Amino acid sequence: MVDYNTVKLSDGPRGIRAAVSLLKSGDPVAFPTETVYGLGADACNDRAVAGIFEAKNRPSFNPLIAHVANLEIAETIASFSDSARDLAQAFWPGPLTLVLPRKPDTGLSDLVTAGLDTVAVRIPAHPLAQELLNAFGGPLAAPSANPSGRVSATSADHVLDGLRHRIAAVVDGGQCEVGLESTIVGFDGDISVLLRPGGLPVEAIAACLGQEMQRFKGGDITAPGQMTSHYSPDAGMRINASAPQDDAIWLGFGPDQTGYRGLNLSVSGDMVEAAANLFSHLRELDALAKTEGGKSIAVASIPKTGLGLAINDRLQRAAAPKD
Ligand code: TXA
Ligand code: MG
Repeated sequence: MVDYNTVKLSDGPRGIRAAVSLLKSGDPVAFPTETVYGLGADACNDRAVAGIFEAKNRPSFNPLIAHVANLEIAETIASFSDSARDLAQAFWPGPLTLVLPRKPDTGLSDLVTAGLDTVAVRIPAHPLAQELLNAFGGPLAAPSANPSGRVSATSADHVLDGLRHRIAAVVDGGQCEVGLESTIVGFDGDISVLLRPGGLPVEAIAACLGQEMQRFKGGDITAPGQMTSHYSPDAGMRINASAPQDDAIWLGFGPDQTGYRGLNLSVSGDMVEAAANLFSHLRELDALAKTEGGKSIAVASIPKTGLGLAINDRLQRAAAPKD
C-alpha cells in the first residue's frame, strides 16, 4: 500500500494539469462530480484501477463506472441501443449511469468491468469533472471517493477524512450539488431496468422512454450495490421514525417544531435540498453521536417518490446491520 502525502488541488488550470499528470502515472486522484466525489484512475491501466480497490478497501468483484467526456468516447467502449441513446441525449451530462454491452478491444482494464460483458458509463456534468476528462482524454474509472461501505463524500474534506494517505490528490470543487450517486439503468432487451435509484428521478427516465421502468429482480443483469450494509455511519440508525427514542439524535425532514436535537434534511420538505444534505448530515450526526458516548440516530420518514426513492435506498442501507 502506497503511503501518499495526499494533496488538495485547486480548481484552476494548474490543479487540473497536476491531476492529469498524476492520473497518467497511474495514481488515484479524487475529483468532484455533481453527484458525489469520485476516486478516479486511468480506466485502461490495470495497476491504476487496482490502486482504487486498494485505496477504498473495496471487494474487487464490484465493477466500476467508466466516466467519459462525451458521447463519442462513450460509443467507443459501449454499444448503445436506441433507448440508451435517447437517455444519453436527454440526460447527459448528468446523474445517470448506463450499463450497456461492452465493445471488444476497448483497452479498458478487466478490473473495471469485473469480468462482466457489460460496462457502466457516465458523462458527469460538474465543470471540473468535464475539464479533467477532456484534459485526460480517455475514460476514468471512478467509484465514490469513500472507504468501501462508508458514507459517500460530497466535499473535498470528506474525501480527505476517509482517504488521506491512501490517494495522491483530491481536486477541490466545493460541495456537490446533487449529493446522491447517479441513477443506474440497465436494459433487458428493450426494457429499461433500474439497477440503483439515484440523483436522476426514475419518473424522468420513464417519461423520456414512454415506458415504466422495471425494478431489478436478479437474473442476468448484475445489480450494483447489492451489499445490504453500505453508506454506513458508525452510529446505530433507526429509519421511518416518528420521534427519537432513548436519547437518540434526530435527523428530521420537513417543518419540525418538535425541537428534537439534531439536523433537518430540508425544513421546507424540498427533496433536492434533502438529497444534497443527506451524506454531510449523516457524517455530522455520526460525529456528534460519537462524542456523546455512542448514541444512535433516528431518521424521520421521507416520501418515496422522485429523489425520495434514492434517499430511502441509502437510508435503508445505512441502517442495515453491518456484517
Ligand atoms: O454518481 C456516481 O455514480 C458516482 C460518481 C463518482 O460518478 N460513482 C459511484 O460509483 O457511485 P460506485 O462505484 O460507488 O457505484 C457504482 C455502481 C456499483 O455498485 C457497481 O456494482 C455498479 O455501479 N456497476 C458498475 N458496472 C456495472 C455493470 N457492468 N453492471 C452492473 N452494475 C455495475
Ligand atoms: Mg459508492
